[in-house]
Amino acid sequence: MFASLSKLLQRRFFTAGQMHLIERLIREHGSKHVKGYFFSFLMMGVIATTTTLSAYIMGDIVNRIFVDRNIEAMWAIGGAITAIYVAKGFATYGQQVVLTKISNNIIAESQARIFDKMLAMDISFYNARHSTEFIARQAFISQSAGSALNALVTGLGRDILTTAGLTFAMFQQDPMLASLAILIMPAAIVGVRRIGNRARRVMMTEFQGFAAILESLQETAQGIRVVKSFTLEPFMRERQIRAIQSFESAANKLSRVQARSSPLMETLAGLAVAMVVVYGGYRVIYSGAQPGNFFAFITALLLATEPAKRVARLHVDINSALLGVGMLFEFLDEPTPETEPATMPDLKIAAGRVEFADVEFSYRSGEMVLNKLSLIAEPGQTTALVGRSGGGKTTAMSMILRFYEPTAGAILIDGQDISAYSRRSLRSQIGYVGQDTFLFKGSIRDNIGFGRPGASEDEIVAAAKAAFAHDFIMSFEKGYDSPVGEQGMQLSGGQRQRISIARAFLKDAPLILLDEATSALDTESERAVQEALKTLCAGRTTIVIAHRLSTVASAERICVIEGGRVVESGRQDELLARNGVYALLHKTQFDRGLSLATSDAAAE
Ligand SMILES: Nc1ncnc2c1ncn2[C@@H]1O[C@H](COP(=O)(O)OP(=O)(O)OP(=O)(O)O)[C@@H](O)[C@H]1O
Ligand SMILES: [Mg+2]
Repeated sequence: MFASLSKLLQRRFFTAGQMHLIERLIREHGSKHVKGYFFSFLMMGVIATTTTLSAYIMGDIVNRIFVDRNIEAMWAIGGAITAIYVAKGFATYGQQVVLTKISNNIIAESQARIFDKMLAMDISFYNARHSTEFIARQAFISQSAGSALNALVTGLGRDILTTAGLTFAMFQQDPMLASLAILIMPAAIVGVRRIGNRARRVMMTEFQGFAAILESLQETAQGIRVVKSFTLEPFMRERQIRAIQSFESAANKLSRVQARSSPLMETLAGLAVAMVVVYGGYRVIYSGAQPGNFFAFITALLLATEPAKRVARLHVDINSALLGVGMLFEFLDEPTPETEPATMPDLKIAAGRVEFADVEFSYRSGEMVLNKLSLIAEPGQTTALVGRSGGGKTTAMSMILRFYEPTAGAILIDGQDISAYSRRSLRSQIGYVGQDTFLFKGSIRDNIGFGRPGASEDEIVAAAKAAFAHDFIMSFEKGYDSPVGEQGMQLSGGQRQRISIARAFLKDAPLILLDEATSALDTESERAVQEALKTLCAGRTTIVIAHRLSTVASAERICVIEGGRVVESGRQDELLARNGVYALLHKTQFDRGLSLATSDAAAE
């Protein structure tokens, strides 16, 4: 039954691809609501029946009340009409409530699926996309998934059943007239089908306009300091206005396209009614036919125009909704490189010896970023990565976290190739402070607490103290409850950094990665945090990246990275004695330090 229905639908309304989407939507989201849909169909049957009855009763009204002048019939008919409309009212209520509930549930499900999918995506996926794309997607897609099935169900149920019931009534009253009226249907379907395909394309433009509005909105909000200091307001405004205008014109176009069915449908309906009036009137006047039948017929025809119009529009509505459904499945079908088999063993870090063995990596093919990088971070010691900007330091650190996978070579921890172990176990044993500090909306306590969910208040305070954050936190009126604002905007750069260090402290991991973790601190705070880091890092393998060479002076081993490989390594005094790249970097900083009179280099 379903197969034959779907074949019919496919021939009449949809392409094979669209049918495929509908089937998948039913399979993945609709199938668990069978009971609800069944109930809705039942209610829609009641709606169709009562609507048809109200056409029939028109005949009785005219024949028995107005022609026969029967007072008893009048009361009976009055009662019947009331009953019919009450039943229709309750059925409509039940059907609407149940269908909306199902559609809300499908929206919720697809929102959760989209988010789960987002979490499963790897870093490169995010690198290639604008963050607002997800917001636009979430808003647009899940809505369409909810409405697609509903449009189909109400279309098939209420509107087709009602049209069928009324058509049946028309045939009963006057088969000849009914055939005349029905002849008009195919014209309507063909006309509206064209419109559906056009609506889909316009809708896509509209969605893109919407995404562009969000994009420039978010960039302006986040980059407001740059916007203001570079007086970029006119530029940003122009960008936003352009997006708004394209959205507006697409919306207008869409409404024009969608409304395009109205002139056609109304003209056809008018033609049908006019034909019926002329022919039916002729029969009543000249052949003495009962006026009641004529009225019942005309009522059925008039009642049928609305649902018939909706059936004809079904194509447009479902087509538009399917656009979002298509995007939903397209996104859900994206590969998730981070998905690993449940049997993946957990990595156990003992001493914590990290080794890069001829690691190669490139973000874009042909542009080698790590070029046979080999280095060893001895257990319990601090290894520093230094070198010119763009050399590949952050990339190398990201690879320890398995944000990216090497294209050749391997990274070993305690001799175990990390790619053979679960990412979760690896990442849970690494305390990482990145080059860009990120704080979540919430309080300072929340943000430190993310380091180890379930940590006690005392542990959080201890971590904050170790990161030299406790004092400034306590200087705030609300202390640890102070909100940090979106992305920590209510704090200074150095304060944000100390909170992310506290977060890493709290994690208490055997392996510590610090990428420019103290770059935003003044020399004095940096030295203090450095002291604290010393305690933290004692006995743990630590890899630090720093531009300020004073930061790494005490590291047991310094690796100079240039062009994605280690060009020099050793202790600071050894490297200085070699008079190579490091010595040059050092000299440059030292000279600048003197000329700028910062205590940075002098501190050494
Ligand atoms: N997501 C990315 N996509 C493409 N290329 C990237 C990406 N991230 C970094 N790169 C490129 O890879 C190279 C190494 O970048 P990386 O961030 O590792 O340098 P770095 O040594 O940490 O520099 P810095 O000292 O400025 O932080 C650079 O040439 C950079 O342009
Ligand atoms: Mg970097």
